[in-house]
Amino acid sequence: MSRHLLSVDSLTRDSVNHLMHVAARMEPIAQRRQVTRVLEGAVLGNLFFEASTRTRVSFHAAFCRLGGSVCDTTGFTFSSMAKGESLYDTSRVMSGYCDAIVMRHPDQGSVAEFAAATHVPVINGGDGPGEHPSQALLDFYTIDKEFARLGRKLAGAHVLLTGDLKYGRTVHSLIKLLSLYDPMRITLVAPPGLEMPDYLIDLVASRGHRVEQRASLADDYRDVDVVYTTRIQKERFTAEMSEGFSLSRDFTVDRAFMDKRCGRDTIVMHPLPRDSRADANDLDVDLNGDPRLAIFRQTDNGIPVRMAIFATLLQVDELIEKDLRPVRWFVPERVGVDDAAL
Ligand code: ASP
Ligand code: CP
Repeated sequence: MSRHLLSVDSLTRDSVNHLMHVAARMEPIAQRRQVTRVLEGAVLGNLFFEASTRTRVSFHAAFCRLGGSVCDTTGFTFSSMAKGESLYDTSRVMSGYCDAIVMRHPDQGSVAEFAAATHVPVINGGDGPGEHPSQALLDFYTIDKEFARLGRKLAGAHVLLTGDLKYGRTVHSLIKLLSLYDPMRITLVAPPGLEMPDYLIDLVASRGHRVEQRASLADDYRDVDVVYTTRIQKERFTAEMSEGFSLSRDFTVDRAFMDKRCGRDTIVMHPLPRDSRADANDLDVDLNGDPRLAIFRQTDNGIPVRMAIFATLLQVDELIEKDLRPVRWFVPERVGVDDAAL
């Protein structure tokens, strides 16, 4: 694995498999059964210049669970970038303070520019409409775990990606990551104007996968193994695009769609957040409590996967087992009130 994690382009099937293996070894710690201090003394810099709940907090929590400490800055207002400081200077300054840096920024390519100015490992927590590689890794980990539970194989699987495929950086990273594996079928359904960029479709097709674009969800998807739906990234729209845009209910994944069009074991994923405002027509809450809905298992998986990323980049992945102790505090058996017992 390279020094930074900026794009899925730097990953190979072997490096992904290694991260998945390390993530599985992190499970007892992520599930709060055991404690490690392998990163004791290390400091993470968490720099978020765009809204975030999951990525910011789970990278923070993952670093803490490895025994490290975190300092952060959120938004441009509270960073000296608001005074005109460059990415280069910010990178050099932060490198003097921190042992690893996670950054989210609204401009595509900005995290790579930041990383070019430092020898400290940098992780891209999302660069505009570009990529979100740690999300793709946790999505892949989720698919792998769900498939193991259901006795399914990745080779030949059918994955449906829907929603905003143009600006959704999670699907850009995920489709690249899936393409590293044995041929599968990938169906893309996006509202007009929000289709997956051609260069990504060409890349995936050139690696032997069958990619199909369809105009609507009103079709038969009974052989789909994974429905991966995404939020419309309105924050990336031009004023012209925003005017009068509203997502048709025809693109909503809800219980009726799942019951009528998909299989009984089709899993539903979403990188989250889902837009729960009434007119957003994002993933419907009527699937809450349905065991097919994997979205919170997916967010939970963010912890072991991000721990694995840190442990691998900071080269302590071989030390985990030697450093485990049982936890001493109360931990509920299930954390969510609607969590399905699987
Ligand atoms: N949270 C994901 C991202 O930052 C997806 C989203 O915001 O819709 O890319
Ligand atoms: N999935 C994801 O990146 O969520 P946040 O935007 O809340 O970090």
